[in-house]
Amino acid sequence: MGGILVIGSYNCDTVLKLARFPAPGETLTALGMAAFHGGKGSNQAVAAARAGGRVALIAAIGDDAAGQGALALWTEEGVDAAAVQIAPTATGAATILLDAAGENQIIIIPGANAELALPAGFTPPADIAVALAQLETPQAATAALFRALPESRRILNVAPAAPIMPELLAATDMLVLNETEAAILAQREAEPTALALVLAAETMREVIVTAGAAGAFWARPDGVVIDAAPPRVKVADSTGAGDAFLGAFAAFSAAGFAPEKTLRLAVVAGALACTQEGAVPSLPHRAAIMAPGGQ
Ligand code: RIB
Repeated sequence: MGGILVIGSYNCDTVLKLARFPAPGETLTALGMAAFHGGKGSNQAVAAARAGGRVALIAAIGDDAAGQGALALWTEEGVDAAAVQIAPTATGAATILLDAAGENQIIIIPGANAELALPAGFTPPADIAVALAQLETPQAATAALFRALPESRRILNVAPAAPIMPELLAATDMLVLNETEAAILAQREAEPTALALVLAAETMREVIVTAGAAGAFWARPDGVVIDAAPPRVKVADSTGAGDAFLGAFAAFSAAGFAPEKTLRLAVVAGALACTQEGAVPSLPHRAAIMAPGGQ
């Protein structure tokens, strides 16, 4: 089984529980507040490790208590953090508004994440089957890493949605994004399958669009679509569902599972991640993802 190399963010998440989201200009009282580990890069690395992957992470944290907490998390989860950088600024943070339906709104404060760079002469670890990145850290660093890994499957999670630098897209094999992000990138509203097909044709890359309870749709530039539907779950908090999907997808892909099974297991992981509050507490382990009945 090949390894997984994640490049991406770490954030300290502060979750504000609300009965509903505020309207512009409105003041609301929160029902509660909680702090969790977060950041799409770190979440996806932990998700891949819990799904059985051998994972290394390139991230940037501050020389502060939140950064120390991140290092402790990665040690506990078996994520190799040897290449994590200490930046001269605060560790990234996110404020998450969570409503009674489990939907969220997220604001990130990049901090150290914005300082992430690939050191000159960086040599990636050997035997990397999957490289995984998002858009919460500088695209130039991701492009340099992806260029150094031409034999790996290089997956870019286009989150938060933003234009992709041409040199990054050129070094990417697959784009993964949710339906909101896909509509922004495609500059149109459409069904998830149509968005996946349009983006695959426009970018000439494989594209997976995730669509919550409707499942996920994997399009290829030649037009072929594979889809998978999730099990029904009671949603407590959808934060981290996309990260659980990507981590599991990377782990099962690196383990050599067939595309259909990889997609199905990733969709199960995403659904299970909605059943608990907080990003990291909800990321499922391999046994839960593979349990009969889930798939
Ligand atoms: O995908 C969820 C994550 O997005 C949160 O943990 C938050 O930190 C933001 O990065």
